[in-house]
Amino acid sequence: MEVYEAATKRRSIRRYKDKQVSYDILEKCVNAGRLAPSGRNNQVLEYVIINDEQMLPRMYDNIGGSIKLPPEKGGPLPANRPKAYILVLINTELEAEAGAPRPGIMCEVGMASENIILAAQENGIGVCPVMMFNADEMKRILQIPDKYEVAIVMTLGYPDESPVAEESTGSVEVWVDSQGVRHVPKRRLKDIAHHNKF
Ligand SMILES: Cc1cc2nc3c(=O)[nH]c(=O)nc-3n(C[C@H](O)[C@H](O)[C@H](O)COP(=O)(O)O)c2cc1C
Repeated sequence: MEVYEAATKRRSIRRYKDKQVSYDILEKCVNAGRLAPSGRNNQVLEYVIINDEQMLPRMYDNIGGSIKLPPEKGGPLPANRPKAYILVLINTELEAEAGAPRPGIMCEVGMASENIILAAQENGIGVCPVMMFNADEMKRILQIPDKYEVAIVMTLGYPDESPVAEESTGSVEVWVDSQGVRHVPKRRLKDIAHHNKF
């Protein structure tokens, strides 16, 4: 898949097929994240990959947002829940050594996350980035040392839905139609891209 096509066709996927995601693919996604840009090449991010079936429900219990909505509102049936997770961690010791401000580190989290998403997509895997999660509980469950902060959680699996992006007519509120299809209004290019002057 071409990069432009991948970037423009990507949608957050919250319903997944009942099919495991191999560690090899997940590791490849993290490798794409690892090589994302970082300020002064600081590389303060680390990752936890989870695809153990016993662990999946414990992870799902500790995330939030639309991925936890009931099925009629676009959330997954139990069989369609995420089949893998990738946590992006900030190593706060390396962050302090780098002296990098947190907003810059969060940009790096975003860049690494998008690399993960695009690498996943190339392998037929859908992703939803999730910022609503219980960080303390995840750290406890996954035995993550104190010096790490969980920056973002990515849920992954083979897509079992096909959300559509469409031009916003004003509202940007995501909605689900009677067939269960998620509609994602996007602001129009001509409304947000300014050329040579604002
Ligand atoms: C920083 C960030 C945090 C997000 N947090 C959540 C979340 O906690 N739960 C969730 O279901 N989706 C979450 N999302 C996914 C957004 O809801 C989704 O990107 C948005 O609705 C646009 O849809 P699209 O990704 O298909 O373009 C998050 C996305 C981003 C970029």
